[in-house]
Amino acid sequence: MCGICCVLSLSPSQLVLEKSVHENLRKRGPNSSCNITKTASNPHYQCLFSAHVLHMRGCLAPQPAQDRNSNVLMWNGEVFGGLLLRPEENDTDVLSHHLAACHSPTEILSVLGNVRGPWAFTYYQQAGHYLWFGRDFFGRRSLLWQYDAEEKSLTLTSVAACLPGSDRPPQWQEVPAVGVYRIDLRAFAESGCLTFEVYPWVHAGENLSSVSHESKWEGIPSYTSAMMNNSGLSLTSPVCPLNMSIPQLLEMEHDPSSQSSVEDLEVLLKSGVREPVVNRLIDVLSEAVRRRVQCLPFDTQMTSPLTNDKAAIAILFSGGIDSMVLAALADRHIPNHQPIDLLNVAFKLQEPKIVKASTKKSKKHKTKPMDSKTDVPDSNVYNPFGVPDRITGRAGLQELQDLNPERRWNFVEINVSREELQKMRQEHICHLVHPLDTVLDDSIGCAVWFAARGTGFLTEGNEERGFTSSAKVILTGIGADEQLAGYSRHRVRFKTSGQEGLVQELAMELGRISTRNLGRDDRIIGDHGKEARFPYLDEDVVCFLNALPVSDKADLSLPRGVGEKLLLRLAAKKLGLGASALLPKRAMQFGSRIAKMENSHEKASDKCKRLLTP
Ligand SMILES: *[C@@H]1O[C@H](CO)[C@@H](O)[C@H](O)[C@H]1NC(C)=O
Ligand SMILES: *[C@@H]1O[C@H](CO)[C@@H](O)[C@H](O)[C@H]1NC(C)=O
Ligand SMILES: *[C@@H]1O[C@H](CO)[C@@H](O)[C@H](O)[C@H]1NC(C)=O
Ligand SMILES: *[C@@H]1O[C@H](CO)[C@@H](O)[C@H](O)[C@H]1NC(C)=O
Ligand SMILES: *[C@@H]1O[C@H](CO)[C@@H](O)[C@H](O)[C@H]1NC(C)=O
Ligand SMILES: *[C@@H]1O[C@H](CO)[C@@H](O)[C@H](O)[C@H]1NC(C)=O
Ligand SMILES: *[C@@H]1O[C@H](CO)[C@@H](O)[C@H](O)[C@H]1NC(C)=O
Repeated sequence: MCGICCVLSLSPSQLVLEKSVHENLRKRGPNSSCNITKTASNPHYQCLFSAHVLHMRGCLAPQPAQDRNSNVLMWNGEVFGGLLLRPEENDTDVLSHHLAACHSPTEILSVLGNVRGPWAFTYYQQAGHYLWFGRDFFGRRSLLWQYDAEEKSLTLTSVAACLPGSDRPPQWQEVPAVGVYRIDLRAFAESGCLTFEVYPWVHAGENLSSVSHESKWEGIPSYTSAMMNNSGLSLTSPVCPLNMSIPQLLEMEHDPSSQSSVEDLEVLLKSGVREPVVNRLIDVLSEAVRRRVQCLPFDTQMTSPLTNDKAAIAILFSGGIDSMVLAALADRHIPNHQPIDLLNVAFKLQEPKIVKASTKKSKKHKTKPMDSKTDVPDSNVYNPFGVPDRITGRAGLQELQDLNPERRWNFVEINVSREELQKMRQEHICHLVHPLDTVLDDSIGCAVWFAARGTGFLTEGNEERGFTSSAKVILTGIGADEQLAGYSRHRVRFKTSGQEGLVQELAMELGRISTRNLGRDDRIIGDHGKEARFPYLDEDVVCFLNALPVSDKADLSLPRGVGEKLLLRLAAKKLGLGASALLPKRAMQFGSRIAKMENSHEKASDKCKRLLTP
């Protein structure tokens, strides 16, 4: 993970980077910071490139990377495939080398289109006076832009800041992950009018003209004088299109009131009908996890005996099925003597409202009925952090310990009080969430920030010990719900418009995942000098799931806790997991109870006032 920022300006005044933006960039890349300024006189423009590198693998490769012809690459990405890399090579250098050899836009697009893995980049071609930038197909890395029409300056940055009290509020927007952009700097300098050429992602065989009508394009800023110049070239999408076919077979009749149980899954597994596809999911997902936990095909240092007591990998861990499957697969690929950190966040429950107590105690206290079978209290004392995700997290830990008793699983209990939440949000987290601004962005952004920081407690016997995760790689389960129909709105859609409606909902969700989640989560997690990795959004995993008919992925005629993400549940069972395979989806804002801390009358889509700086 790196922090990259490029300021392009026609104005002769010296280029400066907002101090707070610079600080936020440095947090993403604490190991090396470097600036390069390019000034051209004919045509007249100047560019500042500011790069901040997090050291992940092999030799530290400082950025911006400049080649012999003075082209400048800033690469915030991770090459997991598609380009040949020898173990001792760093991907920035290799990419810079490949790009330097390109003589046409077609060749540049071919290099970028081949990369498997997340990225955001800027690339300055000095001789032709071009500035390229963009994000990968899913938008797994953040990139924001802002155009100042007065100064005629464009800023691209991994992370920004929302400045208080300025009369002209900064208008940061996420660069839409629709393709790769190119600015002709000569044309810009001569006309004073900024024009992007956009090379969109297109599925193999798809019609280019059909792509430009997708809603994702709405994010191209209209407040600038920017214009689109669709030159007709495109990037080949790294995944195949979603299978929209609806099975002809009559749907099986299920009794929706029947209790879901592990046996249901076992019966389904034993029947063998679904076995081949379950096995294929395990294979492709396992490989995706392997690529992400052995970050380090190129790295030999991190496996040295000295660092063996520290985990290299952490998982955002609720004990739900998405994170459990990731943990079980990570277990396959990380040597047994290395610990794995499970990051579990809980926000303090307000005492008077909800009292967790044993049945004995409940006679003294006024208790609410348990809202689900997983919400059963596990101790006799009132526990302000006994939120649903903590309880399922503990149960999940037990399953993992049973699965591999030799491994040290560090269950990191991250307890957050209301005061700390408010302080960190005001001082810092609001800048990272920006420019997203809803109540949901606030809840998830804050919850993920505290989880990813990894500062909490380990319980050892009866002792609690302060602990901070040192893992630089954080696996998250994002993408599972979007692809496997895990959200309750999938059920709603299925009820009202059947399989067809469900397929359309799935297509829509994957299409908007970059604007909804990924840029934000990258800014939030990257802030700790850590790197988020998303195995469910691995190109091969998405391609495999996209090709399946929807009936292989979910069966929403089955009850909650079974039918949604059915394929993943079967995989979990096959991997040896138990009750966690049957937990219904619980959104992080509810599972961690952060949503309870704030005004409960808000809607998730409302603008969040708390994110505004004073
Ligand atoms: C890079 O430029 C920024 C903004 O102008 C400045 O604050 C920072 O100190 C510079 N960093 C280095 C390493 O020169
Ligand atoms: C990179 O920076 C982090 C945070 O400051 C530090 O813990 C780590 O040791 C650094 N790594 C290297 C190789 O300098
Ligand atoms: C990047 O890797 C190459 C080897 O491929 C090495 O020669 C170079 O020194 C590395 N860059 C840095 C800055 O360490
Ligand atoms: C692409 O779409 C345009 C307009 O919809 C149409 O005229 C053209 O025939 C299509 N081309 C292909 C190859 O389908
Ligand atoms: C698109 O690019 C071509 C060639 O660079 C140029 O002639 C044309 O005016 C551009 N169109 C727009 C709408 O900017
Ligand atoms: C953190 O929360 C857990 C409940 O999961 C509780 O057992 C523990 O005592 C809490 N620790 C602190 C220091 O608040
Ligand atoms: C879509 O699923 C059907 C099965 O329902 C299968 O026959 C077909 O080959 C799939 N299509 C693609 C493009 O994979």
